[in-house]
Amino acid sequence: MSEVKPTILKIGGSVITDKSSELTARTEIMNRIVEEIQKANIKNLIVVHGGGSFGHPVAQKYNIRDGWKEEAQRAGFAETHHIMTVLNGLFMDALVWHNIPAVSITPSSCIITEEGRIKCFDDAILKILLKMGFLPVLYGDAVLDTKLGFTILSGDQIISYIAKKLDAQRIVIGVDVDGLYDADPKATKTAKMFKHLTLEELRKLQNLLGKNSASDVTGGMPGKITELLLAIEQGIPVTIVNATNPNRILKALRSEEVEGTIIEKGD
Ligand code: IPE
Repeated sequence: MSEVKPTILKIGGSVITDKSSELTARTEIMNRIVEEIQKANIKNLIVVHGGGSFGHPVAQKYNIRDGWKEEAQRAGFAETHHIMTVLNGLFMDALVWHNIPAVSITPSSCIITEEGRIKCFDDAILKILLKMGFLPVLYGDAVLDTKLGFTILSGDQIISYIAKKLDAQRIVIGVDVDGLYDADPKATKTAKMFKHLTLEELRKLQNLLGKNSASDVTGGMPGKITELLLAIEQGIPVTIVNATNPNRILKALRSEEVEGTIIEKGD
């Protein structure tokens, strides 16, 4: 592993797809984000993206997250994984045609979960890719599970796992709102955004928001907080920015001051 600790960038599915319309990619936003990744020119960057209106509707239709129940789910598992490779292909197109040496790592081929939590992850290829100066790209995926048969692994669990395993320098998360709020800003006009949070404050916020939201197979913002806590507990800071707004990802990657929420362990 080279000396610079890895930076992990998650791009939410709500940024690169239109969540209100099934199978609709936002390729212009993808291209702009890729240009920002290129400009930031960060060493040891790993990108993970979500499923948005590609992965979630199919996963939901076949109830893949809760595991094996009936025969029809076999085709559903294959379809969920396949549709994620399609979205990943679009994102990879943008990266590779911008001359970024990005290489896709398929989570369903190297990760097994146990009751939804990553149990084994063969990260040898990821580490070599980083060492050789490539940009590894992973994504939320349908994966095999030792107890459930299969399940859905969120990009958020992947980032907290990799961040801990590779002792990441920091995590940057691009979402479609300006940061972390005390309520869903799309549903509550008076929702207040936090500029800075400590681990303790984030734990309190988690209790306030509840641990799960029904709208999303991988838990929405509360699910995201649950995953992030695991990385922040280990001292890895997280910056959440609105990736649909130009230059926020660029500034966050460059560690410049940016509109968003910064979460650090604190004392
Ligand atoms: C979900 O990944 C992947 C599938 C549904 C197959 P994420 O949970 O990371 O996706 P977003 O960012 O919420 O869309």
